Amino acid sequence: MASCPLICDTESWKNLKTHVEDIKKNHLRDLLKDEERCKSMIVEHDGIVLDYSRQQVQKETMEQLFKLAEVAQLKEKINKMYSGEKINSTENRSVLHVALRAPRDAVIYSNGNNVVPDVWNVLDKIKSFTESVRNGSWVGATGKALQDVVSVGIGGSFLGPLFVHTALQTDGEASESAKGRQLRFLANVDPIDVARSTAGLNPETTLVVVVSKTFTTAETMLNARTLREWISSALGPQSVAKHMVAVSTNIELVEKFGIDPNNAFAFWDWVGGRYSVCSAVGVLPLSLQYGFSVVEKFLNGASTIDDHFYSTPFEKNIPVLLGLLSLWNVSFLGYPARAILPYCQALEKFAPHIQQVSMESNGKGVSIDGIPLPYETGEIDFGEPGTNGQHSFYQLIHQGRIIPCDFIGIMKSQQPVYLKGELVNNHDELMSNFFAQPDALAFGKTPEQLTNEKVPHHLVSHKTFSGNRPSLSILLPTLTAYNIGQLLAMYEHRVAVEGFIWGINSFDQWGVELGKSLASQVRKQLHSSRTAGEPIKGFNYSTSTLLQRYLEAESG
Ligand code: F6P
Repeated sequence: MASCPLICDTESWKNLKTHVEDIKKNHLRDLLKDEERCKSMIVEHDGIVLDYSRQQVQKETMEQLFKLAEVAQLKEKINKMYSGEKINSTENRSVLHVALRAPRDAVIYSNGNNVVPDVWNVLDKIKSFTESVRNGSWVGATGKALQDVVSVGIGGSFLGPLFVHTALQTDGEASESAKGRQLRFLANVDPIDVARSTAGLNPETTLVVVVSKTFTTAETMLNARTLREWISSALGPQSVAKHMVAVSTNIELVEKFGIDPNNAFAFWDWVGGRYSVCSAVGVLPLSLQYGFSVVEKFLNGASTIDDHFYSTPFEKNIPVLLGLLSLWNVSFLGYPARAILPYCQALEKFAPHIQQVSMESNGKGVSIDGIPLPYETGEIDFGEPGTNGQHSFYQLIHQGRIIPCDFIGIMKSQQPVYLKGELVNNHDELMSNFFAQPDALAFGKTPEQLTNEKVPHHLVSHKTFSGNRPSLSILLPTLTAYNIGQLLAMYEHRVAVEGFIWGINSFDQWGVELGKSLASQVRKQLHSSRTAGEPIKGFNYSTSTLLQRYLEAESG
């Protein structure tokens, strides 16, 4: 296969490197005085407002970034993704999460087959199954309705559904349709997570959904066996048929595990785990909790962003702009981290989900052709809802390291409250901070200002804020299922944009394998030491010592 030149060897990349020096001469507090500049950096689409005027960019920076995108063949790569080309070359797979939320009449090919009818077959099956559970026509082994669901899965089979569930919990329509029902997640193999996720649940009224793309993930399979035992010891082995269902691409292994394939909900190898929340991975547990019609709105929201991403010129294309700006911050300005800061408690699980989507996708060391990269890819994503984060790690963001921030705000709260006698309602109070923080970061506070305010001389340097710290602001009109879908797709595509330009494969994850295989050696050692008293062997001094201590503590 002919290998592509690395993007860092192109003129466009080199021009941007040179351009950094020009940008560094400008302070954001000066750039923000230019209203024409600011106006050109506010983009709106379908109720979403993106303001990137607080990024360290000029009109010329953007032009050069668009040029870089062209040189990197970004549009061609997006087209290849949408047309089902096997762009995940190390796994020989298409990357078609957009097909998961495409309308019924769309036509999207993978391997010469239109995959949309398959997607809708599964969606229809989920709709009818979840309706029967919710209306009580599907009952448990003792004839009782199943009100509670435990979704067992990890990584992409957990984080996306958890984010959407957390976001929907307080939405009026969704919470109304979830009345009397519980959805819980069991992800960690830690027995504490088993205890917590089943605490207070009655096996008679609980449905377990085992979610695993491969159906081989060690943690998920052990947790699944543990919950199978929890059910069968309470209700008898026959009860599994009524109390356990599965979501997987590997229906053979589902059947081997003892779950009726009729109660299995398929997805496909062209859906990456971290991109699978719009497949049965998310749609099944979320529909059990909220009803299919709510989840369908979430899919629609994501689908409209898919259209926007596919067809909008880069200058107005929100995921493209987000991706280019992140790339600028990482590869040119040298800021390795990114904070995701939703001013909305319902989005508390958004950053952890995007952390996986982004870091598992773009944390790579070689190009898509396997060439070691002379530049770093990916960024360190983290975040917490505002204003909680303000009272935690924002100190570092304001006066320590430079960390580009995404501020995400919602115009109309899911749960508006106004306490009589207060200056503003609670949502206004929250949003006052949302509007203030980006300016604090951008403008900072100078020693002169502090001196004018009569701050004692010895405190001036402590109270100085250098400013010139980049952020962007995203406003969503509300936080309904539809908006949650929009937000998800925007961030998914942003990650793809970055990866396409860096020239990496954003859709494989070989970096998770080594730790898994070493854990399997440790597992075998623990077993042989426990059962046959075999000595620890085959590990380095450090690991052997720690294992020894662990075994001694357990037996002591
Ligand atoms: O370990 C990483 C990973 O492979 C993720 O990519 C994936 O989402 C997760 O494990 C779970 O995998 P599965 O859905 O196959 O159980």
